[in-house]
Parts: sequence; C-alpha cells; structure tokens
Amino acid sequence: MIIQCAEAIVELKGDLVYKRRIEKRYRVKELDKRIRKERTKSEAKLISQARRKGVPTPIIFDVHDHELVMERIEGDLAREVIDVAISERIGELVGVLHRNGIIHGDLTTSNVIVGHDKIIYFIDFGLAFIESSVETKGVDVHVFFQCLRGTHESHELLKESFIKGYKRSFPNAAAQVLKRVAEIERRGRYVRQRKMESAKANLKNHEIPQD
Ligand SMILES: Nc1ncnc2c1ncn2[C@@H]1O[C@H](COP(=O)(O)OP(=O)(O)O)[C@@H](O)[C@H]1O
Ligand SMILES: [Mg+2]
Repeated sequence: MIIQCAEAIVELKGDLVYKRRIEKRYRVKELDKRIRKERTKSEAKLISQARRKGVPTPIIFDVHDHELVMERIEGDLAREVIDVAISERIGELVGVLHRNGIIHGDLTTSNVIVGHDKIIYFIDFGLAFIESSVETKGVDVHVFFQCLRGTHESHELLKESFIKGYKRSFPNAAAQVLKRVAEIERRGRYVRQRKMESAKANLKNHEIPQD
C-alpha cells in the first residue's frame, strides 16, 4: 500500500513503513537534497524524542538520506474513530509534548493513529520543532481545533475533552496557551472580516457607472 502526499511517499510493507521525501523540482537540486535530508533527520530525531518523553510514536529503525524506516502501527486514523475519550487522551499527550517544548506542527486527526492495542500514537513529525513560546503552542492547538471543526460533527464536545486532557498533563501553562488559542481565533475572524470588507469595497469600485 502506497500513500503519496505533497512531501513524501509513504509505503506500508509488512511490519514496516518507508517514508521517502520526494524531489521538489522547483527547488535548486543541491538545496532540495539538503532540505529533504535535514527534514528526514529532524523528523527521526523528534519522533524518538517524543517517545522518550512518554508520547507513543513509531520506533525508528533506520534513517537514510531521504528516507525513514519505521515501525508500522496497526490501527485506525483518529480521523475515523475519534470520540471524547480519545480526544481527551490526545489532549493529554499534546500536553506532554508541549511540556517538553516539542511543537508537532501539523496536529490533525490524520496524524494520530488509534492502535488496535488502544494506545494513541502520534506520527508525522515532518514539521515538528522545539520551541518554548506560548504562541507556537497556541498555533499547534488551534490547528487541531480547526481540524475538529472541519471534519467532526461533535467538534465542541471533542474540543472540551481535549482541553480537559491538556490541562491535566500541562497544568502550569495550559490556561495561558488556551487563552492564546482564543486570541488566535479572534485574529482569524478579524482578518476574514477585513478581507470580506475589502472584497465588497472592490466590487463596489468596479461597478459599472450608470449614467
Ligand atoms: N508508522 C506508521 N504506521 C502506520 N501508518 C502510517 C505510519 N506512518 C504513516 N502512516 C500512514 O501514512 C499516512 C501519511 O504519513 P505521514 O507521516 O502523515 O506523511 P505526510 O507528511 O505525507 O502526511 C498517515 O496518515 C498514515 O495513514
Ligand atoms: Mg500526515
């Protein structure tokens, strides 16, 4: 089974997963090679780091230039099976990541696997990085909430249970981060509103004058 996305080709073969970063033709060849190599290395590093901190992730078996070889997690994407209990556990584990300064960078329900063993695994650390600011944590959580809103009917309940888990594992800063998430949402609304207004104004200005 082969999954092709924007950045990578992911091949599931037996017990293993091969994630190969593909060439971007619009990038200068040498630079492209370097970027792919660095992202591959950084993804491997952060996947392992997360697991050491207690967040289940696939075991990395091998890192080549542009390719990761890792453990295949048997289970379902959270996208397909998420409920309030799973969302709470996801929140708890994101709290553990953030407590340790790990920003996932692409928190969606397609990057979380609910194992047949009932363990919740995080995958896809291709955009992850280490940072301590409230803002990056806020963006991380905001992205997850946006994903819930976009794909899951009972997103308000899922959001609440995520928050419950997040607060439990990250009591020192959860309130601060969640306050920032609300701010980020307000900013987004404001930007959308301004865009709408300027689009309307443009429309008006381009109206054919009647005489
Ligand atoms: N270790 C793994 N075990 C099982 N499935 C995986 C694993 N890694 C990736 N996948 C599957 O491949 C898909 C794409 O992998 P991902 O790392 O998220 O790449 P991308 O950066 O392209 O989104 C995932 O959504 C999941 O379905
Ligand atoms: Mg992904």
